Amino acid sequence: MATAAPEIAHSPISDGSLSMGHLALHYGSPEDGPAAARLLEIAGLAQTQVLPLPGGSFYRFVVSSRHFGRGDGIIYLSCLPEPQRKLIAAIHEALQVGTPDEHQAVRDYRAMMAQDFEASFHFGFLVNSLEELESMVLTLWDLAENDTAFKGRLTIGMNRARRGDEAIDARLDASPVFGKATRYAYGSAGVQVFVETDLIRAGQLGENMYLEFDYVFPDKDSHILSVVEI
Ligand SMILES: [Fe+2]
Repeated sequence: MATAAPEIAHSPISDGSLSMGHLALHYGSPEDGPAAARLLEIAGLAQTQVLPLPGGSFYRFVVSSRHFGRGDGIIYLSCLPEPQRKLIAAIHEALQVGTPDEHQAVRDYRAMMAQDFEASFHFGFLVNSLEELESMVLTLWDLAENDTAFKGRLTIGMNRARRGDEAIDARLDASPVFGKATRYAYGSAGVQVFVETDLIRAGQLGENMYLEFDYVFPDKDSHILSVVEI
């Protein structure tokens, strides 16, 4: 079931004057910095700056070389500041996170996230090539299996396009990545990949980050990112 777009509220910012500027991400401890940065590079981001700092390096990435000197399309990556680390520790202590007496709200939150990677805070990238997206997943699967910096630090999930388009269904059935996918997106003509990692710390418990990578099949007016279907 799709719904019509709502009426647009008036804003002093005109159409075309706004773009997605930057996202600030954090890794948990100084020793996680290099692997977190490497993960973002494997995801296709171009590293433009590394500023070595005693508490962990500060990194700047852009989504493409066109954004090198611009003010948008930027991802910053730095170590969690100490007050935030202490806040996360206090939340964990108060809710007895990870203990047999873990607060029921924590259990329910984890159960929700296990069902749906994008149920809470996450960030999505759009990838222009299905083959490149598949190649990225194969690389991450390999690293998660064989590289000590990534072992146990990555969980990869995916949703394939809803069935109904013969050519898309056949392409995904034959895919080394999506062929075995059992979950379906909230829409058609596109796929979603989710990378859950504790190399980057965010979310309500400060434990991990969910990065999403989408691909939309060309020449489709209605797809997973244009219309959400229930
Ligand atoms: Fe999403």
